[in-house]
Amino acid sequence: MCGIVGYIGEQNACPILVDGLKRLEYRGYDSAGVAVLNGNGIDVRKSVGKLKALETALENCWPKGGLGVGHTRWATHGRPSDENAHPHSDCTGKITVVHNGIIENYVQLKARLIEEGHQFKSETDTEVAAHLIESHYKGDLAEAIRTAAKEIEGSFALVVIAQEEPDKIVAARRHSPLVIGVGEGENFLASDVSAFLKYTRDVIYADDDNVVTITRNNIKITDLDGNPLDKKPRQVDWDAAMAERGGYEHFMLKEIHEQPRALRETMRGRLSLEKDCVELPGINLTDDEIRGIDRIIMIACGTAYHASMAGKYAIEHLCRIPVEVDVASELRYRDPIIDEHTLGIVISQSGETLDTIVGLHEAKSKGAKVIAITNVVGSMAARDSDGVLYTYAGPEIAVASTKAYTTQLMTLYLIALYFAQVRGTLEPERARQLREALWELPRRAEIILDDYRDVIAAAERYYCFNGFLYMARGINLASALEGALKVKEISYMHAEGYAAGEMKHGPIAMIDPTFATIAVTVKSATYDKMLSNIREVKARSGEVIAIANPHDETIKDYADRIITIPETEEIFSPVLVALPLQLMAYFVAHSRGPAIDQPRNLAKTVTVE
Ligand code: M6R
Repeated sequence: MCGIVGYIGEQNACPILVDGLKRLEYRGYDSAGVAVLNGNGIDVRKSVGKLKALETALENCWPKGGLGVGHTRWATHGRPSDENAHPHSDCTGKITVVHNGIIENYVQLKARLIEEGHQFKSETDTEVAAHLIESHYKGDLAEAIRTAAKEIEGSFALVVIAQEEPDKIVAARRHSPLVIGVGEGENFLASDVSAFLKYTRDVIYADDDNVVTITRNNIKITDLDGNPLDKKPRQVDWDAAMAERGGYEHFMLKEIHEQPRALRETMRGRLSLEKDCVELPGINLTDDEIRGIDRIIMIACGTAYHASMAGKYAIEHLCRIPVEVDVASELRYRDPIIDEHTLGIVISQSGETLDTIVGLHEAKSKGAKVIAITNVVGSMAARDSDGVLYTYAGPEIAVASTKAYTTQLMTLYLIALYFAQVRGTLEPERARQLREALWELPRRAEIILDDYRDVIAAAERYYCFNGFLYMARGINLASALEGALKVKEISYMHAEGYAAGEMKHGPIAMIDPTFATIAVTVKSATYDKMLSNIREVKARSGEVIAIANPHDETIKDYADRIITIPETEEIFSPVLVALPLQLMAYFVAHSRGPAIDQPRNLAKTVTVE
């Protein structure tokens, strides 16, 4: 997830671009750059690091001109560096591109373009777009972009300028956001409206496979075949801070809503129904090495630890490899048994959590190969591991982890399916069913996010209770722990996650009419046992909210409230269960009033022991 901005008009473009990038910096801050077109050609300036570094580099010599593009980067392909910073240009320097998204087939396209004689300067997928457009350019930039877009697989919002056509900016999008700001004598393009809200509130949202050409006084939108499309501007009434959060009151809520997209991005290029298999290029393990693994140890903290608990269930179930999960801060002090047949998997959104990094080093020093699951390209976890699988969640700003968690789960499921494929532990028909179910998950997540009035109503009833107990069995024990953690960290309420079978060994003593129990009762092998546990809570005058599947008539006789989520395979259900639990925590905190995005005493990245 990167931020892109484009401006054409009578004003000097560069200060407008830099100001727009400031508003978009929440989308990525590994590097930043601008390109301005003037009588001398395209002037490109870029710098690794936060936008401040670019501003320092620009000091006293800002490029002049009324047309330009800007970019703030969240690295996906190629580490953060000056060379990998956007904008990227073609061989001639006459076509310049900024991009948000992932070009899945960039390796194939790059090989073809190199064979045709194109020379590359960066490791990015974006540079491929610049050369691809160059290869199709015959004096009509929009036409070249349409042809290139048809060849690109993956997600993109591309904003492009060409020296030969100094009166326009052309853009195209598929699966990545692109919004047009409609001004007077000037027009804008950006990833979101916050970038140009100062100048105009009239916006047009581009759809998938739209190609947009803006000049100072005109906006033209076509489909990929060049057929014109008629789209009317609409007005947005958000303030600047709200626009940055996509109209949501908090980043946490925005990030909860981003999960279907983040899940799709994380699957992209790895799971394909047409190819009938899972591919994990970054894992860097040979098939023989995967067959030789006799134990897996997962190392993580907090939410990532909960993801690893679910990962253990999935991998043991599908691949029959024993998995241990360790809270990273405990690992090194317990003298763990690790050798060269052990595979270490470290899970960390930031890739910088000190305890997790120490665990990674500990596992490597004992001879294990280690792979990292992280959201941050070039982070320490990524650099120090033998292989890395990125979760393409985009920057997570809220301290409470949401989309990082569900994309970590998704990555662990992909690993489980991939290992099962290599080790032959699944019948082909069963493997196909599971791939299809996984593919469907983002759509099912959307159904939950389309209407969650029942969650809000529950939060409104229970926010003033004395506490919450989350109970579940099997793989959803991870969900119970994660649900409780979310409530604790943002609403400062007492909340516990428990294996439902453990209730009678202690926690049931807490149950009274002021203590709400959230029971995960989705379709599972232990559904009947969960019903008994609900009965036990009800018998002690506790109120029960069940997270259940639609058409479950039985649960109506047991729970006080039911929050329904679509059905899926039991092992994948933690992804869907996570959503109402995150929303519940959010709305409980909302009613109680704490600072949701930055809760007290917590930091987004914990780099101390
Ligand atoms: O960056 P990491 O995934 O390594 O962070 C681990 C934990 O600090 C993190 O998950 C923390 O528990 C979250 N605030 C939970 O929402």
